[in-house]
Amino acid sequence: MNFKVPRGTQDILPSETWKWQKVEKLINEVCEMYRYKEIRTPMFEQTELFQRLVGETTDVVQKEMYTFTDRGNRSMTLRPEGTAPVVRSYVEQKMFGYPDQPVKLFYTGPMFRYERQQAGRYRQFVQFGVEAIGSNDPAIDAEVIALALDVYKRAGLTDLKLVINSLGDTECRASHKKALIAHFKPHIEEFCSDCKSRLENNPLRILDCKVDAENLLIASAPSLADYLNDDSAAYFKEVLNYLDDANIDYEVDATLVRGLDYYNHTAFEIMSTSAGFGAITTLCGGGRYNGLAEDIGGPSAPGIGFAMSIERLLLALEAEGKSFDDESALDVYVVTLGDEAKRAGIKLLGQLREAGIRSDTDYLGRKMKAQMKSADRLNAKTVIVIGENEVAENVVMLRNMANRSQEKVATQDLVQKLNGILKV
Ligand code: HAM
Repeated sequence: MNFKVPRGTQDILPSETWKWQKVEKLINEVCEMYRYKEIRTPMFEQTELFQRLVGETTDVVQKEMYTFTDRGNRSMTLRPEGTAPVVRSYVEQKMFGYPDQPVKLFYTGPMFRYERQQAGRYRQFVQFGVEAIGSNDPAIDAEVIALALDVYKRAGLTDLKLVINSLGDTECRASHKKALIAHFKPHIEEFCSDCKSRLENNPLRILDCKVDAENLLIASAPSLADYLNDDSAAYFKEVLNYLDDANIDYEVDATLVRGLDYYNHTAFEIMSTSAGFGAITTLCGGGRYNGLAEDIGGPSAPGIGFAMSIERLLLALEAEGKSFDDESALDVYVVTLGDEAKRAGIKLLGQLREAGIRSDTDYLGRKMKAQMKSADRLNAKTVIVIGENEVAENVVMLRNMANRSQEKVATQDLVQKLNGILKV
């Protein structure tokens, strides 16, 4: 029997994990700068939470959820996204009572969607997301967008495009919905079966359909921009003003609708414009969700956030030909010759690590030449050689690999000596 990693998932090997660690470190640093605090919610939730908050008619809920019945006969779902769990926690933990409002949260963790596998689309992927809950200030919409762009820029990406739209409030959504139904209804037979069922419940999603994307009726559909009421239009204008003030470039796209049902007002996506990137160019998506906390029994608490997958961030870096510096070099490789030297070497290794020095040695009983080769391959900054004579004299041979110089050092002075070399 050949076991394989499940379709749509991947093993992230040590040759790659260091990049993930770099991105995670960057995320933590940027979030700290903007005062977003980390929240960790469970990997699964009651199925109903996603049905209610993400929306019954969305692809995510209809086709993509990993749902199972647990031994207590409850329907559970591996989280397909992070906003619903965070809002659930916000309401349950009464975060609306926290003295510092809005509550600014971030998360990094795996999400699960049963999607068709293709480059940049996985069934398990890691999302970094932020949610700012409790403020209706357009300035925080701009802050959330700036934070996402900041992460990409600090990671080294330059080929980025911000696309933004306003979905308006409930009132404009309702009148736009009516207009869409009237527009598509006479011709609905031309559309795919998904669109047929979207017509009455969620006609906005027809605009987003991949199957019918070329249908001219989509291009000529009533634009939400024409249905924005004064309040919504004014709100959107202010968001754009704040983006202008922050020198953030954007493109307003009246056809941008997001795949999840909870959005109103601001909706945005960040795309990669790099020629090397595959068909799926969306790196990040987000928007405002003012009714969500109330929907699950909480107080009225307007929120905004985004999520990006780390997989796509790394793919975008690759497409731009950029990479992080690998700083995972070893400080010391300990080479030993003979049994006594080996014991002394292992003891020394313990002392080096206690002093915070990254060090390793040979565990295969290999000859000196092979041990030196390992030291080279592992990018060791220094090599310590211990033979019988060195043990007898209580010294080691210390080789600085940068300039290939070599000197005898008393064992008790070694840590101090190394600290001097490794600092530069
Ligand atoms: P979403 O657009 O469904 O939004 O996903 C956000 C991002 O997650 C995408 O832009 C993409 O980077 C990544 N992503 C989604 N599906 C996959 C996949 N199958 N493989 C790899 N990456 C993927 C949300 O999830 C919302 N919760 C975002 C949000 C937060 N809105 C407000 N707050």
